[in-house]
Amino acid sequence: MITRLNKYLSECGIASRRKSDELIQEGRVQVNGSTVFELGTKINPDKDEVYVDGEKLKEQKKVYFLLNKPIGVITSTSDEKNRVTVVDLIKTKEKIFPVGRLDYNTSGVIMLTNDGEFSNYLTHPKNGIEREYTVKIDKPLELEDKEKLLKGIYLDNRKSKFTSVTFPKKNIFKLVNVTTVEGRNHFVKRMFDALGYGVNELSRIRYGKINVKNMKPGEYRIITEKEVKMLMK
Ligand code: URA
Repeated sequence: MITRLNKYLSECGIASRRKSDELIQEGRVQVNGSTVFELGTKINPDKDEVYVDGEKLKEQKKVYFLLNKPIGVITSTSDEKNRVTVVDLIKTKEKIFPVGRLDYNTSGVIMLTNDGEFSNYLTHPKNGIEREYTVKIDKPLELEDKEKLLKGIYLDNRKSKFTSVTFPKKNIFKLVNVTTVEGRNHFVKRMFDALGYGVNELSRIRYGKINVKNMKPGEYRIITEKEVKMLMK
């Protein structure tokens, strides 16, 4: 079946479709011996031979993992400074990559897979998948600021908001649970920073319907087929 090259690359577990486009533009992808730069290139996986960085691709078995990311681990497949990555924490022969990202000092839910379609679906803002975070801020959240976070403030000239802001512990206003469908880098920290609050601790406690309750930092498990289907609904 004819398919787009970036889709095929993501199905082979190379990277998300967007990242695959970057690889194409960087001249790292060959089809039948010729380097392709055209982003809309279509191929037939049954007939065409595709190479990335000189290595021939074959479709892989799809795998899905859920990790409770500890702080002090980077969300990447490799690190030039040799720091531990989320991929290092998972024992698998498959070439997996993280779905979205968490900062070095953020803990909590991170999924890893070799399924680019799964990753695209979960990270694309148009699909409205909720992420929930527990945030420890450096001073109590004022009620009027809570309203601003819900109504929307401007980040990068774009109205940005949380869909819910609650206090998980009664009468403690430095501990806040926020929910968002945004995946922009440092989004939670930047939202608080815009109103003059520093974030001292940040943990993602839920992504769609997936959470890491009862999992210790550093612990991981396979995401079941049923859960994969539920997440992609
Ligand atoms: N928002 C942030 O600021 N950091 C994260 O790691 C995740 C969301």
